[in-house]
Amino acid sequence: MSETALFNMDMEDAKARHTKLVKEIRKHDAAYYQEDNPTVSDAEYDSLRQELEKLEAEFPEFVTPDSPTQNVGSEPSKGFQKVTHAVPMLSLSNVFSEEDLEEFCGRVNRFLGYPEDKKLEYVCEPKIDGLSCSLRYEKGQLVLGATRGDGATGEDITHNVLTISDIPQNLKGTHIPEILEVRGEIYIARHDFERLNKSQVANGKPPFANPRNAAAGSVRQLDSSITKERPLRFFGYALGEFSAPLADTQQGIRARLQEFGFEQAEPSTVAKTPGDMMAYYKQVEEARPELSYDIDGIVYKINDIELQERLGFVSRAPRWATAHKFPAEKAITKINAIDIQVGRTGALTPVARLEPVTVGGVVVSNATLHNQDEIERKNIREGDTVEIQRAGDVIPQVVRVLEEKRPKDSQPYDFPEHCPICDSIAIREEGEAVTRCTGGLYCEAQAKERLKHFVSKGAFDIDGLGAKIIEQFYEEGLVKTPVDIFTLQANDKKSLTPIRKKEGWGDVSAKNLFEAIDNKREISLNRFIYALGIRQVGEATAKRLAATYTSFQGLKEAMIKAGDVEDEAYAELLNIEDIGPAVAKDLTGFFAENHNLDLVERLTQEIRVDNHVQDVKQNTPVSAKTVVFTGSLEKMTRAEAKARAESLGAKVAGSVSKKTDYVVAGADAGSKLAKAKDLGVDVLTEEEWLALISS
Ligand code: IVH
Repeated sequence: MSETALFNMDMEDAKARHTKLVKEIRKHDAAYYQEDNPTVSDAEYDSLRQELEKLEAEFPEFVTPDSPTQNVGSEPSKGFQKVTHAVPMLSLSNVFSEEDLEEFCGRVNRFLGYPEDKKLEYVCEPKIDGLSCSLRYEKGQLVLGATRGDGATGEDITHNVLTISDIPQNLKGTHIPEILEVRGEIYIARHDFERLNKSQVANGKPPFANPRNAAAGSVRQLDSSITKERPLRFFGYALGEFSAPLADTQQGIRARLQEFGFEQAEPSTVAKTPGDMMAYYKQVEEARPELSYDIDGIVYKINDIELQERLGFVSRAPRWATAHKFPAEKAITKINAIDIQVGRTGALTPVARLEPVTVGGVVVSNATLHNQDEIERKNIREGDTVEIQRAGDVIPQVVRVLEEKRPKDSQPYDFPEHCPICDSIAIREEGEAVTRCTGGLYCEAQAKERLKHFVSKGAFDIDGLGAKIIEQFYEEGLVKTPVDIFTLQANDKKSLTPIRKKEGWGDVSAKNLFEAIDNKREISLNRFIYALGIRQVGEATAKRLAATYTSFQGLKEAMIKAGDVEDEAYAELLNIEDIGPAVAKDLTGFFAENHNLDLVERLTQEIRVDNHVQDVKQNTPVSAKTVVFTGSLEKMTRAEAKARAESLGAKVAGSVSKKTDYVVAGADAGSKLAKAKDLGVDVLTEEEWLALISS
């Protein structure tokens, strides 16, 4: 409908159109959010919404609190309770080839201090392509079912899991622990999927794209009578919290879970060498088309639970397991254009805009081209027909160009020498793959990306302030720097065009946004450091900095001093695990800029930085102590010792100084031990250290 048509509409027609639009948008919202199965393209959906917004601007009396225009910025409320997982639900690292797999096994052996070729047992089983779910049993009775969510918190779907016949409501068998959380995958079998889609179509409903989407949509239903109609199944494959161990091997856990009434994915095996693991992988890959459910790879898990515990976790994945993905799915399509995206740190990333094509059940319209070298190496041009691939959740990539299909007038791609956004010179430094915009704060793209980073998950994590809203507020001049986020409400009160009056907003959504911002006025030190978006300072480095300097003031003073490489603050900085001269340069560079210090100063007037480090155990015998390991340890490798110390809140340093609390000296300790004695630092044997951390 054109704009003039809208304005000439009489009230009655307008009301009828409004009712129709609201109904239609709600239907699409439900399909998208509750069924995970969008029924229209983004563009069509946006145009419906725009029409509704214009209509409501013209006829404000039509706006009701439940109009779809009243809840932009967050998904429509789904009515699911949030659940904090007692033990986080992790994801898995990936391997894609035999070499990757060998490297994985080698890394496990190295971490444990075993010879590279020592044979360890791995349980191998299919990786089911469904959605993960955690089931909590108390005294053998199912009390909670939850989705994975972001791993830390999920949604309560108990009412829906109760309808799944594969999920026992009461555990069978004996010796059932008081508390037991079973993790596994909810999925739909292929034959059931075919039948489900036939009945969808027969009932005039759109079919689901694949069994995974159908399962996800079915589980996230508010009305469990709908879920009950869906042919959902469940495999149990891991544990969350438990009050008593089930077995001392993964294979044993499988057997116990089976006794309790959980189906196990088959075929499975226990392999003893990477060669056996590969043989199993190939066997399952061959059998894949005949399996009754979709799988996207193999999962290998160390069989011995004691070794699993020693290996522990790194960021969000276990060191003791990995997923071996089947080869990527491929498709042929055309590159309509090559665009350049400018990231938070100014990196120019070329992106291929593709003729949309379905690859493995997902419509793909962009592929990353990484950098200038990649474009030159593969000789990629606009207008080319290309083969693309996507594996799992990895960003789609261009594999090769079909040069025989290249248009006659095609020209090689000219990588820009200026930033496409701010026109500053773009520079590629010696030995670097990335070209960067030199515009810094002047570059709007960088400024926007930095804001998006600032509000992202690992940083301030502000609900309802996503990338789209940041873009919009930036364009409108409402939020230009992070400080503006926290003064948004105060400024809004004085504004002639307050947010609640904006297109797509209302009283409720504006209030929710301000509340979400207020909820984040207190932040842990590590998140705050990460939020600043200093190049090369990711979540792990931010945590180490927070643990070392313990307050923002402390960090700032130290970084200013460390700007002088002769100062001992510089040596102290390099002494932190994983911080080398390059990261040190980015850190001290950040604190050398007055505009950065000024920004932080203004920020801390709006928020409070809480000097604790998140997710690290507090009040352990070694919290906040600085430890140096030296010499060769007997019971564990250096890597394992460090990982354990850090998870207990200790700081691991590379060299001994006055600030060292303990030096743990193994056999043949040399100069570090001597220095410790010199400085009067406590020296512990490996046994004494182990006794200390378990006390
Ligand atoms: S074990 C601590 N085993 O894959 C490790 N996961 O990409 C727990 N998945 O989040 C996971 N089949 O949802 C495991 N046989 C299997 C699996 C499996 C599918 C899923 C799981 C996980 C995801 C990681």
